[in-house]
Amino acid sequence: MLPDPPELRGPVVVLRPLRADDAGAIVTHCQDPEIGRWTTVPYPYGRSDADAFLNSGEWALGICDAGTNALAGCIGVMGSPAGESACEVGYWVGSAMRRRGLATAALGTLTGWLVGTCGLGRVELLILPGNTASEGVATAAGFTRAGRARGRRVPGAVLWVFTAAADVTSERTAAVPGGGGDRF
Ligand SMILES: CC(C)(COP(=O)(O)OP(=O)(O)OC[C@H]1O[C@@H](n2cnc3c(N)ncnc32)[C@H](O)[C@@H]1OP(=O)(O)O)[C@@H](O)C(=O)NCCC(=O)NCCS
Repeated sequence: MLPDPPELRGPVVVLRPLRADDAGAIVTHCQDPEIGRWTTVPYPYGRSDADAFLNSGEWALGICDAGTNALAGCIGVMGSPAGESACEVGYWVGSAMRRRGLATAALGTLTGWLVGTCGLGRVELLILPGNTASEGVATAAGFTRAGRARGRRVPGAVLWVFTAAADVTSERTAAVPGGGGDRF
């Protein structure tokens, strides 16, 4: 069981709990079919989808540009597939805000918090074949490709994992917000 979504600050991104007034920005970003193509976010996407998401109780954080505070995307924790010591993370960033390192910083920061503060041993991603952008994010944030994910929430996806090995945890968690952020 995770704590409530926190606010995590770093030099590149601020991750913060979502608010009802984020609905407009979420609807704008989710007009991009690439988000629906690679995630379980619906497409086409309207205001009722955003309101349902914001009222769903899903564990999610807004990804905000640390320079402007603008909401650039969302990152969420999907559950604990392998018991209490593991969870799955998913994310998207709006097309106008891409290629600035925001997703990598968001994934690194959240993973650092999940491992360093919450004590999880493993963080997982399910990435569909062909999603080179997300593979780039996973690689940049220190995840490793672990092979086909069978019987999981996203059929056909490839499993990527970050494991909290003792030799890297201390270095990576030193960059967790409160201790630096972003670089992970
Ligand atoms: C995947 C996604 C979140 C990446 O967001 P982003 O903020 O642009 O990612 P970053 O800027 O952190 O990119 C990190 C690296 O990933 C790789 N990458 C990112 N986008 C890429 C693209 N379109 N093509 C190829 N490589 C890409 C690059 O290596 C990049 O580093 P670089 O810009 O220094 O070359 C965004 O494209 C997105 O929301 N896509 C649709 C939804 C989705 O696929 N979600 C993930 C589901 S598993």
